[in-house]
Amino acid sequence: MAKHKVIIDTDPGVDDCIALFMAMANPDIDILGITTVNGNVKVEQTEYNARRICEYAWHSGIKVFQGCDHPLKRSVLNAEWIHGEDGLAGQDFGEPANKKSNVHAVDFIIDTIMSSTEREVSIIAIGPLTNIATAFLKEPKIISRINELIIMGGGFNEFGPRGNTTPYAEFNIYADPHAADIVFNLGQRITILPMEVGQQVYADHAYIEKLRDMNLRCAKMAANLLEETAKKLTPMYDKMLAANLSPELGTSLYDPCAVACIVRPELFSGKYGSVSVNTDSRSEKFGMTTFLAGEKRNCLVTYKADKEAFLAFVLEHFRLLS
Ligand code: RIB
Ligand code: CA
Repeated sequence: MAKHKVIIDTDPGVDDCIALFMAMANPDIDILGITTVNGNVKVEQTEYNARRICEYAWHSGIKVFQGCDHPLKRSVLNAEWIHGEDGLAGQDFGEPANKKSNVHAVDFIIDTIMSSTEREVSIIAIGPLTNIATAFLKEPKIISRINELIIMGGGFNEFGPRGNTTPYAEFNIYADPHAADIVFNLGQRITILPMEVGQQVYADHAYIEKLRDMNLRCAKMAANLLEETAKKLTPMYDKMLAANLSPELGTSLYDPCAVACIVRPELFSGKYGSVSVNTDSRSEKFGMTTFLAGEKRNCLVTYKADKEAFLAFVLEHFRLLS
């Protein structure tokens, strides 16, 4: 079977790191390049982190490109409070040997899609959508050429908290709602793994110990990362509930859902329709995503994960990494 050729657009980021480890380990995924964006931490740090993560997993041959350093219209938003000042929970990944590329991430995305055959390359977007929207606007021809656009983002809970960053908005969308609006409106063949799906497949203490017990470098690093974020999230549970934010029982494996989805789509249940984004910065619902059933069906919005199968699938990848 042909490999899935992918560009991963990311803001590493603890769960981004787990997702990148999985993508490097999976024999059915060919990472053409990693593009980084402002999100969990500043874009210079996300670029540096991506190079460090590749090097740590003995994949320093993967090309990394720095992208947009600020959202299209709103102010810069980061999430050091959960991912740490360095974006990787202060863990020691060592120094990357590779030097930083001077090619902009948006140009890499455009050049790669335009030089590939129609629907040969997919994009896995696990950070704010600034790079993707900018690429769409700069070269609209890429939109129909992308095979699949798999996005971790948004929240569609109709009963209960709809966001993890505000009561109405999930981080990747809230960090750049205007970019998300462009991507969801213009994109084709979009699969969305929203906040509520990632929160179904969280890493609890027992799961973290399974990773640690593998006694493999990347598995132990993943355990350390998840343990550090769980230390911050667990005490926040009641506060998040009180603030009507969607609380987390452990560290939600948000971004790994997007990588799993391209190789094992059957792990997720979804419905077809389109998605609108609230782009009114004066509204309390700024960044809120809404599912629209109807004639426009460019989005598959997932709502359920096969938890046990997914969590086992993630562990399989770490057995393939040193
Ligand atoms: O809301 C979860 C998303 O925001 C994930 O991509 C996580 O890495 C953060 O960027
Ligand atoms: Ca992310």
